[in-house]
Amino acid sequence: MNILVVGGAGYIGSAAVKALLEANHEVTVLDNLDKGIRSLVDPQAKFIEGSLLNEKPLNNLFSENRFEAVMHFASLKAAGESMTHPEKYSENITSMINLLNAMSAHKVKKIIFSSSAAVYGTPQSLPLTEESPLNPENYYGFTKLVAEQLLDWYEKLKGIQYISLRYFNVAGDAGLNYIDPEANNIFPIIGEVLQGKRPALKIFGKDYETRDGTPVRDYIHVIDLVDAHLKALKLESSEIINLGSAQGYTVLELIKAFESVSKKTIPQEIAPRRSGDPAELYASNDKAKSLLGWEPKHDLNDMVESTIKAYEPSPQE
Ligand SMILES: NC(=O)c1ccc[n+]([C@@H]2O[C@H](COP(=O)([O-])OP(=O)(O)OC[C@H]3O[C@@H](n4cnc5c(N)ncnc54)[C@H](O)[C@@H]3O)[C@@H](O)[C@H]2O)c1
Repeated sequence: MNILVVGGAGYIGSAAVKALLEANHEVTVLDNLDKGIRSLVDPQAKFIEGSLLNEKPLNNLFSENRFEAVMHFASLKAAGESMTHPEKYSENITSMINLLNAMSAHKVKKIIFSSSAAVYGTPQSLPLTEESPLNPENYYGFTKLVAEQLLDWYEKLKGIQYISLRYFNVAGDAGLNYIDPEANNIFPIIGEVLQGKRPALKIFGKDYETRDGTPVRDYIHVIDLVDAHLKALKLESSEIINLGSAQGYTVLELIKAFESVSKKTIPQEIAPRRSGDPAELYASNDKAKSLLGWEPKHDLNDMVESTIKAYEPSPQE
């Protein structure tokens, strides 16, 4: 298929571009390089530097190409920052409107969207299923929920089929040696601690009601996540689907896994809990398994090993 990948120079988008090309799709990447890294984009893909916020060039791009589907990875994603700079994060909503309008105008009928487990907020029960109550506790999660509602309206009004994939914590490396330029998630932060760029890993709360007092999260390997996107291209109905491993690990279990693979000690610092951080979060991935014929093939150890490999200094450093 001829596919437009928006945000294809980012962490997940660049891994998706690689997998799409390997599966013989034709790929165009649109990325404003706000956080994206140009060199991560496979040279076999066409690269356009530009933003979803600029409607005219966006529409020109659709006029000049006959895209059959869009994968939309572009978004601001730091939940904490979204609470202090909501005006900036509202761009996530504007971007989605501009993209859907350009798709409607050019009769592109399929979109795969990166949603997030942040739409659920604190779970009332676990595992989280696609039917669990939606109650985002940060503005970032709210922008994802609005984007999902926009997708639903444009399906009804314009016949655009959508697959909204609600990611849990995406981790690991897809063979591109990705180094996060603004580490906010625990895997890249541990990577920086191992590199000596940070003195210690801050653990936000050790007094949760979990097996060791630290929060439990669901980690999914970026390679498995991208595989689900390729499978979603074949779906013919509009769907919302969780993408997680359906397994929960505590922060201390994660640290132990990093220490055992790297054979290094990870310095830790206990900090107060952050507001809006639930004790436990993990997905039901039954819908992904049954609808997409998908299942995660990589475990926590694979995510840890590939992250360490990406972050370890190259021999000439
Ligand atoms: N990484 C995770 O654990 C995770 C979890 C849940 C959801 N998500 C979602 O997955 C998607 C991809 O995440 P990622 O980790 O690869 O993030 P990322 O920041 O690495 O990638 C996003 C890319 O989009 C580009 N971009 C941002 N705004 C743009 C705009 N207006 N126009 C064009 N390009 C723009 C950035 O330059 C960047 O290359 C995001 O929508 C994110 O909210 C990620």
